[in-house]
Amino acid sequence: MYSFDPVPGQAKADLYRDLLDAARALTEGEPDGVANMANVAAVLAQFLPDLNWAGFYRMVGGELVLGPFVGKPACIRIPLGKGVCGAAALHGETQLVPDVHAFPGHIACDAASRSELVVPVMCDGAVIAVIDLDSPSPARFDAEDAAGIEALASILSARI
Ligand code: SME
Repeated sequence: MYSFDPVPGQAKADLYRDLLDAARALTEGEPDGVANMANVAAVLAQFLPDLNWAGFYRMVGGELVLGPFVGKPACIRIPLGKGVCGAAALHGETQLVPDVHAFPGHIACDAASRSELVVPVMCDGAVIAVIDLDSPSPARFDAEDAAGIEALASILSARI
């Protein structure tokens, strides 16, 4: 049994330290990328409050394909450049979107989503996946969340 429990009310910096420790411990030495993404999606959903979707899209044959996640069933394939995930994958840059309705081309997989954070996972200079977090609250994510998820992406670079 694995037990990684977020501490209620802890500061965001401490929360990300614990989240990254959990992700590191769960993926250390495990070569199966699907298993690692599945456990990390579970950790994201467990540690981060106020989310309605947390998971992965993987770069497969030049488009994004749904990977392990926690949340409602989502769109399966996203072309590069489409929506928030497609923008992150095309540009290789984090997308911090306080209001998804104001983002041109946003793909509404879950009508409850109001804000979104998408971070590319890079390996050898190429985008291999994106980490996607959705929240039902507007402006749920800030620069500290972006930095925390970017640190997670670099841990996962050689583990997914
Ligand atoms: N909203 C995303 C699509 C993926 S779902 O949120 C899970 C987007 O615009 O890329």
